[in-house]
Amino acid sequence: MKVITIAIDGHSSCGKSTMAKDLAKEIGYIYIDTGAMYRAVTLFAMQNGLITDAGIDEDALRNRMPDILITFQLNEETGRPDTYLNGVCVEREIRTMEVSKYVSPIATLGFVREAMVELQRLMGEAKGVIMDGRDIGTVVFPNAELKIFVTASADVRAKRRFDELTAKGESCNFDEILTNVVERDRIDSTRAISPLRKAEDAIVLDNSNMTIPEQKAWLLEQYYRVAAE
Ligand code: DC
Repeated sequence: MKVITIAIDGHSSCGKSTMAKDLAKEIGYIYIDTGAMYRAVTLFAMQNGLITDAGIDEDALRNRMPDILITFQLNEETGRPDTYLNGVCVEREIRTMEVSKYVSPIATLGFVREAMVELQRLMGEAKGVIMDGRDIGTVVFPNAELKIFVTASADVRAKRRFDELTAKGESCNFDEILTNVVERDRIDSTRAISPLRKAEDAIVLDNSNMTIPEQKAWLLEQYYRVAAE
């Protein structure tokens, strides 16, 4: 079996990370959630007063970029990697609605993207990785052997996000989540640098009407097809 790079891109809240994490566990690959990296930068900006009602203090954030250290560490209990910001586990903090609200504008900033892409390339240079995000197949690893582009209807995605937050005990509002999903799609797809788009050689998966086990089986099949070539 060849050791390959797997790029999973697509719209927000369409279950990319669930699929990617499960596949990584199954085939012993390293899973990297690049959205978590942009979320960690956003959390850092929030914690340091760089996001206010007046907006994002871009100059201050640019100056503070060297102070942001993002790492992943396997959580033995869940079998999945947790995100660490400057040595502190922030897995829960980066998934709040507050962070979701600011992450897309943060991810449009060129200096943030440059720093994240450099880190992502370093993390994935040895192959044997599954990276999920928006620009993995187009910008970070354009030579990835397997590229998947995942999508689902905005309603289905908002419902999944709502269920996820409710299960965690967070109070949330469906309409607010739907608005956030649609708004993030808009910002992610229309930004000037590395907009969300399908790589020409990516395979599209619309999982609106698929169960998690069905998606898992589909993805595993794609992996074997490419890695066994
Ligand atoms: O996958 P997610 O919802 O956790 O991603 C959070 C945000 O980060 C999303 O709005 C777009 C941005 N993002 C990005 O611009 N590029 C990536 N490779 C991953 C995420």
